Amino acid sequence: MSTAPTATLDELLVTNVHQLPQTNQLRALHTIIRAKDARHEDFVFTSRRIMRLLIESALDLFPFEERGVETPIGEIYPGLRASSRVCGVSVVRAGDSMEAELRAVSPSSPIGKILIQRDKVTKLPRLYYSALPKDIARQHVLLLDPMLATGGSALMAIRVLLDAGVAEENIVFVNLLSAPEGIAAVCERHPALKIVTSSVEHRLNENAFMIPGIGDFGDRFFGTDK
Ligand code: PRP
Repeated sequence: MSTAPTATLDELLVTNVHQLPQTNQLRALHTIIRAKDARHEDFVFTSRRIMRLLIESALDLFPFEERGVETPIGEIYPGLRASSRVCGVSVVRAGDSMEAELRAVSPSSPIGKILIQRDKVTKLPRLYYSALPKDIARQHVLLLDPMLATGGSALMAIRVLLDAGVAEENIVFVNLLSAPEGIAAVCERHPALKIVTSSVEHRLNENAFMIPGIGDFGDRFFGTDK
């Protein structure tokens, strides 16, 4: 029996993962939130700026149709408009932090929730609850979670979406930081899904924290780290 060769990270960065351009501006934003002594309000404000970039970029992966409009000088602008319905699904708790930015750019999008928590010691995820739009199977889904570490939580959340009838190719997973281990786990199991991230980290350490990482994003964003 032959097995397909596993794609390398470089290959996945071409086929499955859209990493935001590593501009000086983006690196400056990351510099603020990576600092261990970042003030809470700076962490929240700056994370949100990155989330906005991520969501705008993720929306670009969904279908568009041609839409010409007449400009004030009587000329036609050959434009586009989004041709699919989009909903967000946040992985509680840290994913909640991304909802406001989706609402800002797509106010009519419903937002579902999946509550998954990792055991603090084993790091294994557990599904507690989900609430999804009734017709989610006919929508394109932005799955929102700022962290992709081992991929355990993401795989569980994706399973919930697939069981609800969402097509794998209609899911875009949006996160701030991705570990190569998590990218490989998700893409290997779900090759039609796309990931949008603002940073691909070096690796995970022995405690499943990303290197260089950001610590516990949820705790830092919601101020429960103090
Ligand atoms: C974090 C993060 C992801 C998960 C990533 O959540 O928001 O959901 O860990 O790790 P994984 O890829 O190894 O599964 P956490 O369970 O720490 O809870 P939180 O949302 O309350 O911060």
